[in-house]
Amino acid sequence: MIDYKMELTPEQIDILSGKQGETLQKVMETVVLFGDIFGAKRLVPVTYKDAHLVTSFGLGVLKPLYATMDQLIEAGLKTQGKFTVDPRPIDYENVKCNILEKFVFNKKMYSEQAKYEDQLHKIGLKDKNGFTCTCYYKEVGNRPAKGDVLTWAESSAVVFANSVLGAKCNRNSGMLELFGAILGLVPEFGFLIDENRKAHWKVIVKTTKKPLPQILGSAIGMKCMEDVPYVVGLDQWIGTELTDDVEGYLKDFGAATASNGAVGLYHIENLTPEAKEQGETLLRADYKEYIIDDAELERVYLNYPIMWKDTSAKPQLVFIGCPHLTYNQLCDWTDKFVAGLKSTGKKKLTARTVLTTTPDVADKFRATAKYQELLSTGATLSSICPLMYTNNPICMMLHRVATNSNKLRTYSKARYYKDDELLNILVGKEGK
Ligand code: F3S
Repeated sequence: MIDYKMELTPEQIDILSGKQGETLQKVMETVVLFGDIFGAKRLVPVTYKDAHLVTSFGLGVLKPLYATMDQLIEAGLKTQGKFTVDPRPIDYENVKCNILEKFVFNKKMYSEQAKYEDQLHKIGLKDKNGFTCTCYYKEVGNRPAKGDVLTWAESSAVVFANSVLGAKCNRNSGMLELFGAILGLVPEFGFLIDENRKAHWKVIVKTTKKPLPQILGSAIGMKCMEDVPYVVGLDQWIGTELTDDVEGYLKDFGAATASNGAVGLYHIENLTPEAKEQGETLLRADYKEYIIDDAELERVYLNYPIMWKDTSAKPQLVFIGCPHLTYNQLCDWTDKFVAGLKSTGKKKLTARTVLTTTPDVADKFRATAKYQELLSTGATLSSICPLMYTNNPICMMLHRVATNSNKLRTYSKARYYKDDELLNILVGKEGK
């Protein structure tokens, strides 16, 4: 048996010593060693059993992953609840690719996609609609309650669950969340401990208008990195109730904090559950301050690098929906496209545009008349992860990709535009 530092129960020691099989022993070893590294004193039960996994793509080079999955399946192991997983990388029906792009996707990149999806289903994947990074939408239903202990990975989902839902989860990496879901146990450290949920930063929002969530989140992420921010002054712009629209705002804000920095938890004064309950007592004694005004947001925005060779050129391919769009955001973009095209007298958007959302939200939207309105603008609807699409070097060589997502901008060569800028370009308003 491995050497370990934390305190384990007799049953946990049985698993660790191999009494419940060699494969479960390895799973336990991994989780215990992971906890020991972070100083966990014990393992605690996962109180919300439905996990969320980060690895959704069958990259050919991930051979150890598929071998591990095979071992888990052969040992008859499954997750204790059902899980969702990040979006699929490709959708040839709604995000068209040429032969070369397809060749790279199918042969060089995601050659193990079908095999890996089969493995995910055998281990406990929710259903065919389980591929999304916004599993917490009501339409999807993987939505923990306040105080629940989770075993999730995917930075944008973890920060949402911690901050907006008040659940407790660390920023796990791939496989550790799966092992926690099989055992129903996670090491107790980080955000699972109340003291660690206190804020290192008081962020004071002093803007003259509602800040764009993508740029506000980006500014806070770059300043706070992995620290916890307590944001004051934002409630004057987005209110004090967690409506669907506010959740959409916080989803985009949080994804930017988590990708432009490494924020795993934030508090918004008078809005998010712990801030509503505890107010400024959430601030640590030695907290620092960061003031955000219009000039600071503009400074952050103007510093984003543009990776296109020709910076004056127009976008050729636009992705909106990283993280996946809420139903209301989908309707809103559709309305803006239709009204914008009407105002410019154009029939179609000026660049190929893909809106991405969860499969469940897509099904709901496709059943409405608005879906035909969206298609009439030339846009398409998909449930892929735009980042995994742009990981294909051929795609990035062939297209100038643009987005309103700060996460996609950060991890790819896609160019960031503010929502209004992107809309004006797409409906042909720019330069009129
Ligand atoms: Fe989701 Fe992929 Fe963006 S997982 S947050 S759509 S990078």
